[in-house]
Amino acid sequence: MIIISGNHDYRNTGYLLFKKFFPFETVNELDDDIVLVTVGTARPDRNVGEVGYRQNLWLERTMKKYKDKVKIVAMHHHLIAIPDTGSDQLTVVDAGDVLRIVLDTKVDVVLCGHKHRPWAWNFGKLTVVNAGTATSERVRGLFENTYNILTISEKKVHVELKIVGGKRLPINEIVSNYSQFEAE
Ligand SMILES: [Fe+2]
Repeated sequence: MIIISGNHDYRNTGYLLFKKFFPFETVNELDDDIVLVTVGTARPDRNVGEVGYRQNLWLERTMKKYKDKVKIVAMHHHLIAIPDTGSDQLTVVDAGDVLRIVLDTKVDVVLCGHKHRPWAWNFGKLTVVNAGTATSERVRGLFENTYNILTISEKKVHVELKIVGGKRLPINEIVSNYSQFEAE
């Protein structure tokens, strides 16, 4: 289990307790072919996400070490704004620096959350995948509780959306069937 902190976890001195109760590694070699790196975007008593200059430098150095692996970066906040979430000032504030690094170091997938709205942005090799919420009643856009399932085989990543208690479908169908999905 790999756990990353969200903005609510860091509120009211939660940032002091989080590491104690949820110890985690930032670099996780899942097997010989896959590495998952986490970056902390939560800041105490702020809702907005930030990676920060030093962590960005670290991310660039770290990802450059893993040339031939499937590379996944996980963060709480959404790197790119998402449809159906209105005026958005809560994306990672230094998203441009992070996007440049993940594209330059050929990251395969960036996993994000925060907005409770499942979505995927495709940039050629890179996919930025947003999870919905599995448990909260504060759903958006897609009014179901969902989580994402990633299957990795032969260095290809396949992302599926699982509706809690319901069907499982490629997350790209949420994007390509947008209006159709909304009409259902
Ligand atoms: Fe959040």
